[in-house]
Amino acid sequence: MSIQVTWLGHATFSLKVDGHKILIDPFITGNPAVKATAEAAEVDFIVVTHGHSDHVGDTLAIAKRTGATVISNFEIINWLTRQGLSEEQTHPQHIGGGFTYPFGYLKLTIAHHGSALPDGSYGGNPAGILLTTPDGKKVYFAGDTGLFYDMKLIGEEGIDLAFLPIGDNFTMGPDDALRAVKLIAPQVVVPVHYDTWDIITQDPHAWARRVEQETDTTCAVISPGESYAL
Ligand code: NI
Ligand code: MN
Repeated sequence: MSIQVTWLGHATFSLKVDGHKILIDPFITGNPAVKATAEAAEVDFIVVTHGHSDHVGDTLAIAKRTGATVISNFEIINWLTRQGLSEEQTHPQHIGGGFTYPFGYLKLTIAHHGSALPDGSYGGNPAGILLTTPDGKKVYFAGDTGLFYDMKLIGEEGIDLAFLPIGDNFTMGPDDALRAVKLIAPQVVVPVHYDTWDIITQDPHAWARRVEQETDTTCAVISPGESYAL
């Protein structure tokens, strides 16, 4: 096993790659889907896909407490340093660019969404994450996004595991997420960003049946707190 991804709920993930601990979009405090606490989070790196409060979440507090390095777009990194995060603890990237970290090569991808920060500051463009682990596994986190045809380009890289939003209203809903699976053609897909609030309630098992009837992709429905390992 080279990578273990735990879905903490909503769009918050905890990754373990060869002993490195990574948090993605650590929205823990105030997240009705998450059972973990921000105070207990142990982490070496935090990745933030966009500026919305349900994604930036506890980034600042966890980074300050743990000394974790924060990876995000240039604008969000600048905002975090203005909030008091040490520059040495940051790594700005931008869409289309990747960098090799101890846990693999992390590239930011496009996402069609907003990225304003909690205080209204400009948060640049929202992103997805394409992670290539040291042993070559490719994991795609779409982030908050609508359907876009360039998902086909992401799929051309050969995706082992994809996490796609299905909640509708703020992101793709089940119909467009199914079309996304057809464009990306991952080995395995996991639905996320649903059921956190009533407005994004979905039936993930019904979606999984459609995925497996209409595509060659395996759909793994997991509950908050559960993991998927490759
Ligand atoms: Ni968002
Ligand atoms: Mn969101």
